[in-house]
Amino acid sequence: MGEVFKQDSIRTIEKELLENTFIYQMAIKDVTDRLDKIGKRLHSANKHRYIHQVYSRIKTASSIVEKLQRKGFPVSTQSAWENLYDVGGIRVVCPFMEDVYTIVDEIKAAYPNAVVYERDYISQPKENGYRSYHIGLEMPEYITVRKDDYTDMVEQTQVKIEIQLRTLAMEFWASLEHSIYYKSQGTMDVSTQVELKTCADIIADADSRMQRISDKVNSNRVI
Ligand code: GTP
Ligand code: MG
Repeated sequence: MGEVFKQDSIRTIEKELLENTFIYQMAIKDVTDRLDKIGKRLHSANKHRYIHQVYSRIKTASSIVEKLQRKGFPVSTQSAWENLYDVGGIRVVCPFMEDVYTIVDEIKAAYPNAVVYERDYISQPKENGYRSYHIGLEMPEYITVRKDDYTDMVEQTQVKIEIQLRTLAMEFWASLEHSIYYKSQGTMDVSTQVELKTCADIIADADSRMQRISDKVNSNRVI
């Protein structure tokens, strides 16, 4: 794709995305509100905080164009709407590994008909060591459209959202790896890759040890 065409696509998508951002914001708010309720209920029942933090973001136009190109999809707002799950993204950071699986089950119970995919990169990490649990949701949102005769009509639309769940330790690795990858402009040498994978293994081991410590302490605790 030529540079001029690419810049034009970014500008068009930027403008159209801005017009539709509120739909992603509504879906993100639905899910983050639900996560808040789930977290409060579990905390009150078990005296343990299952959710450390929740973040959300809407993908930038240039990163949408980059991803559509990389995946071989047409470059347009419509194509992003149809093909990308992570234009609206939510990150859930949990203290312990088992907390992640508990929240995954809660999300699946809360949205039984909306889950389109699950990727368990915790039990099966990526080759580079990346660990996280991803859930793709496709959920209905209702928007009010004002017609020419000034009456309102409610339209239903399907919004795709990706939730990424991970432990604090996984978040530490993923966030530093992301920044290193970004700074190396996609050309990480082999020794850096090996070094990052070693760090990922150390972190995975620490996560398992922390889980065992927590299990042991909990088994001795009277609630
Ligand atoms: P992308 O890799 O996002 O372009 O899409 P994909 O459809 O191949 O899905 P995948 O499950 O590989 O990744 C989805 C998202 O997970 C990414 O956009 C990142 O936010 C995160 N992710 C995946 N792999 C890595 C990784 O190696 N390092 C980091 N830091 N994040 C990753
Ligand atoms: Mg990927």
